[in-house]
Amino acid sequence: MRKSLGTVLAIVPVVAALVVAPNAAASTTASTTAGTLKDAASISGRLFGAAVGANLLGDPDYVTTLNREFSQLTPDNEMKWDFVEPNRGLFNYAAADRLVSHAESQGMTVRGHALVWHSQLPAWVQNMNSPSQLLTAVRNHISNVAGHFSGRVAYWNVANEAFDDTSRAARRNSVFQRLLGDAWVEEAFRATRAADPTAKLCYSDYFIEGVNPKSDAVYAMVKDFKSRGVPIDCVGFQAHLTSGAVPADMRANLQRFADLDVDVHLTELDIAGSGAAQADSYAQAVRACVEVSRCTVITLSGVTDKFSWRVSQTPLLFDRYYNKKLAYDSVLSVLIEG
Ligand code: XIL
Repeated sequence: MRKSLGTVLAIVPVVAALVVAPNAAASTTASTTAGTLKDAASISGRLFGAAVGANLLGDPDYVTTLNREFSQLTPDNEMKWDFVEPNRGLFNYAAADRLVSHAESQGMTVRGHALVWHSQLPAWVQNMNSPSQLLTAVRNHISNVAGHFSGRVAYWNVANEAFDDTSRAARRNSVFQRLLGDAWVEEAFRATRAADPTAKLCYSDYFIEGVNPKSDAVYAMVKDFKSRGVPIDCVGFQAHLTSGAVPADMRANLQRFADLDVDVHLTELDIAGSGAAQADSYAQAVRACVEVSRCTVITLSGVTDKFSWRVSQTPLLFDRYYNKKLAYDSVLSVLIEG
């Protein structure tokens, strides 16, 4: 199975490049280098990324795979509120700066993650009880963090996981929601645009890959933002999925968001499982993206199963020894088909 797919892949890039690339220079590049995820994705102008831990940049096997295969880098934890501002007004950018510098040295774009999120939030924020003080803290956090990285972050996940998972798909009970109400999300977007006018600003969440009450609620929010001029450019679908359970309407759901005039991104893609079933599910999820022209970025939640946050579920494209899994081949193949 792997051998024959590999043989097919060796032939396909040339054909794909000739079909999709209208100019000769692009066609040559694509046809000679589409043996990696990033090059295969670039044939159709897409980025293929991974979440990366700064502590792993000293691991040669990890870095070799990262640099060879990926064109976007998301700091796994190093830009989260508890990491960059553990105490009020005292900012720590050392680890995030290392990641951004690494990305730049490799020509990777950077995805900032995440400016306002209920999780990995320091106690001094969680324990606030004054709306005006919380709003000041949010604005100050965003102006410092987005300002620090201004010009170096291509996409910001501005607000993450604002909705809960109940069938009502209500707003999640967080300190932001309790003290500021629904408006906290748009406040975060406006503050980020002011701090970094060039970054593309995304809302991100999980369990919104298919049409369901939660994705309906996010859809309504994005539609409202677009109608009122709240600065939102993209929606991130985290895509923490399970083999055999990729929503059948994922493409249609991505398309309905794209029709609101936002880009759509898979921002933390990983699929629990193994073998052919996992490979098929990966193909399905990646195909849902490539069939939507405004689905321009696919980012995995990590590089290797060895360091995955779902380690027991082996959800990534490289095994713990950095071997390419069956799912790697299926993703490469779908990317090349465009
Ligand atoms: C995870 C990280 O991968 C882990 O290293 C950390 O311990 C917990 O957070 N949704 C998100 C991600 O937006 O930032 C989370 O990442 C996974 C869930």
